[in-house]
Amino acid sequence: MPAQLISGAKIAEEIREELKDRIRGLIKKGTTPGLVIVRVGEDPASVSYVSGKSKACEELGIYSETLVFPENTGEKELLAKIEGLNKNPRFHGILVQLPLPRHIDSNRVLYAINPQKDVDGLHPVNVGDLLIGKSCLIPCTAHGVQQLLVRSGNSPEGKHVVICGRSNLVGKPLMAILIQKRDGANATVTMCHTGTRDLAAIVRQGDIVVAAMGSPKAITADMVKEGAVVIDVGVNRIPDPAKKSGFRLVGDTDFDAIKEKAKAITPVPGGVGPMTVTMLMVNTVRAAQMQVPP
Ligand SMILES: NC(=O)c1ccc[n+]([C@@H]2O[C@H](COP(=O)([O-])OP(=O)(O)OC[C@H]3O[C@@H](n4cnc5c(N)ncnc54)[C@H](OP(=O)(O)O)[C@@H]3O)[C@@H](O)[C@H]2O)c1
Repeated sequence: MPAQLISGAKIAEEIREELKDRIRGLIKKGTTPGLVIVRVGEDPASVSYVSGKSKACEELGIYSETLVFPENTGEKELLAKIEGLNKNPRFHGILVQLPLPRHIDSNRVLYAINPQKDVDGLHPVNVGDLLIGKSCLIPCTAHGVQQLLVRSGNSPEGKHVVICGRSNLVGKPLMAILIQKRDGANATVTMCHTGTRDLAAIVRQGDIVVAAMGSPKAITADMVKEGAVVIDVGVNRIPDPAKKSGFRLVGDTDFDAIKEKAKAITPVPGGVGPMTVTMLMVNTVRAAQMQVPP
């Protein structure tokens, strides 16, 4: 039987509806949640991601501004700007779109953001809090993956989750979320990377497989056990002369073959992608709630 299709678009919509109530509640108390997005340079993917984020804010009634700096902006100048935004009460969330130009140390910039406004959840204070199980702002994609699992009826509790990819952005925070002793988590997690020997044998043990590698169709059907749940985080452009753009997007899994074998699977696009932006909205509202005096 073909796999259940886990629609990120549908689940993201459900979460956005829930958020509207929280936003209305904040506005009633005199606070409109505010997000500032900082973009440096004109990387086309960044331009597109930033516009998606600001559109999501607009649709939900979150105030947002996008600050665009030229490619040659100095690190000191950017740090001074962040310092100003930390003090600006109009913004409860600050998002610096990555990647930054090479001459800027991304870590230095991310560490300069007030952790309470760090809606990407990448500041070491939030990273540490997540690991020790304290309430914090959680990295959006990883949080989105957990929500996809829980809300599609595929809770990770008690399951063996194999995560392929150990990035600070996706793999590691997802591991930190899923190992917590709490509802919607409490999983046994194995983390794979390029140093993993016999990836296929390990992936085959997963009740849930999360592919976050940035490697097109790296997870094939023979690597997935019958009845597994497969979440594909990957977004890869591959050439496709049939498309006007000259490329199409594929994930890190061989969707067509795996869907005949898996219990459930996310599509690319339309799976994890819409969840990432939605969880950014969740974090912005959360940050506003944390910063509003009771
Ligand atoms: N949909 C979304 O919203 C969203 C958000 C974020 C990222 N993404 C996508 O998700 C993918 C991963 O992103 P990322 O930022 O986490 O990537 P990343 O920083 O490049 O990390 C990739 C990870 O995958 C591992 N890896 C790569 N190829 C592998 C292979 N053949 N076998 C085993 N491990 C392998 C790497 O191992 P090593 O550590 O050993 O190098 C690394 O840990 C990308 O396609 C990205 O575009 C999507």
